[in-house]
Amino acid sequence: MSKALEGVRILDMTHVQSGPTCTQLLAWLGADVIKLERPGTGDATRSQLRDIPDVDSLYFTMLNHNKRSITLNTKHETGKRVLDRLVEACDVLVENFAPGALERMGLTWEHIQELNPRMILASVKGFGPGPYEDCKVYENVAQCAGGAASTTGFLDGPPLVTGAQIGDSGTGLHLALGIVAALFQRERTGRGQKVLAPMQDGVLNLCRVKLRDQQRLERGPLKEYSQYGRGIPFGDATPRAGNDSGGGQPGWILKCKGWETDPNAYVYFITQAAVWGKICDLIGKPEWKEDPGYATPDARLDKLMHIFETIEEWTKTKTKFEVMEICNPLGIPVGPVLSMKELAEEPSLRATGTVVEVDHPERGPYLTVGCPIKLSDSPVEVKRSPLLGEHTDEILSQVLGLSESEIAEIKASGALGEVG
Ligand code: COA
Repeated sequence: MSKALEGVRILDMTHVQSGPTCTQLLAWLGADVIKLERPGTGDATRSQLRDIPDVDSLYFTMLNHNKRSITLNTKHETGKRVLDRLVEACDVLVENFAPGALERMGLTWEHIQELNPRMILASVKGFGPGPYEDCKVYENVAQCAGGAASTTGFLDGPPLVTGAQIGDSGTGLHLALGIVAALFQRERTGRGQKVLAPMQDGVLNLCRVKLRDQQRLERGPLKEYSQYGRGIPFGDATPRAGNDSGGGQPGWILKCKGWETDPNAYVYFITQAAVWGKICDLIGKPEWKEDPGYATPDARLDKLMHIFETIEEWTKTKTKFEVMEICNPLGIPVGPVLSMKELAEEPSLRATGTVVEVDHPERGPYLTVGCPIKLSDSPVEVKRSPLLGEHTDEILSQVLGLSESEIAEIKASGALGEVG
C-alpha cells in the first residue's frame, strides 16, 4: 500500500527532541527522511542517558525511527558543497539549531531559495521574533515561558513542569502540521516557504484554556476552580488549579483501593452534570439528587471538594479498574491513572501499534511509542533508528547520483571526518 507522504524527501538537520519528533512523524507518514549528522558524535542524544555502554541511547532510538543517516561536516568547504546538493535534491529542510547556526553554515533563506525555490525551510526555535529570539531553549524552559508551569501544580506549591513533553514533542507536532500545509500550498504555487514553530507559542497554544480563564478572571472569580469553593480569593493571574478539570464539568483525582502502597492507585473522576443522579446513587447519596444544595451544577460549585471527598470514600473501596468497569456502563467519565509500566504492558496499545517492540542490531529489542495518528490508507511500519552515518554512501550515490570516484574524493577531502 502507498504512503501519504510518499515522494517527499526531507533533509533532516534536527537534533535532541523537538525537531526529531517532527521528522519521525513525517517518516511514519511515508516521507524519505535523511538525517544529516555531525561526523563522529552525531545527534547529541545518541550518547545521552545511555543504558548500555557505546550503544545508541533509547533517547535517540525512540525519536529517530524510519530515517536514514548521513554524516557530513557542514562547515568544511567540500561538506558545504555536498550540503548544497542535498538542498537541491530535497523538498523540505527541517532544523532546530540554536538561532543563527544554520546561517553560519551558509544556509541563509536567500541561498536556499537560489538553490531550490520549491524548498520548504521548517524551523523550531525557542521563541519567535522578540526580546528572546536569540535564546537557546529546552523543554522545561518552554513549559515555563509558554504558560504551562504557572498554571500547573497546587495552589500552595511552586509552579510545576509536566511529564508530557509539550515543549519539544508538542512543538514537533505543530511543525509537522506546518510542513504538510506548506507542501499542500506548494502544489498550487510551485513555491516553497519558511515554516516557523516557536516552542513558547506551541506551549501557549496548548495552554489556550488558561488564557481563556485569564480573561474570565477580569469579570469575577473562576467558579469551577475548587479554590472558589474553598473561599480562597483569586489574584490577578490564572492560578494553578491542582487537578481541577479545566472544563465545564468538575473533576478531580481520587484515591482507589491500594493507594497506601501503590503511587498510581488513583482515578480521574468527572462529575458530569448529565449523570449526576447516577453518581449520587452509586456513592450512596441518593438524597443529593433532590437537595437544592446539590441538585444543580451551580449549587454544587461551592462544595466541590466535599463532593469529591465523599466520592473518594467510595472509590477507595474499589481498584481503579473496578471503578472503570462500574462507571463506564453508567456513562460516568472516569479514567485510571496508568503507570508507564502498565502502559508498556497494555495489550490493546500493542495491538494498535501505539506501543511497538523494535529490534536494534546493537541493543536488541526495545519498546517504543509508534505512530499515534492512524491513517486507513497509509499504514505505519516502525523501523529501527539508523546507526550513525549508516547510509552515507547510499545517499551520496542514490540521492545525489555521485559516482564511486566522486564519493572517494569527498571522503579524501575530510568532509566526512570529525568536526574540528
Ligand atoms: N557539521 C558541522 N557543524 C555542525 C553540524 C555538522 N553536521 N551540525 C551541527 N553543527 C554545529 C552548528 O553549526 C553549531 O555551531 P555554531 O554555533 O558554531 O554555529 C553547533 O554545532 C551547535 O549547534 P546548536 O544548535 O547551537 O547546539 P547546542 O547544543 O549548543 O544547543 C539547543 C542545543 C537545543 C539548546 C539549541 O539547538 C536550540 O536552542 N535549538 C532551538 C530550540 C530547540 O529545538 N530546543 C529543543 C531541543 S529538544
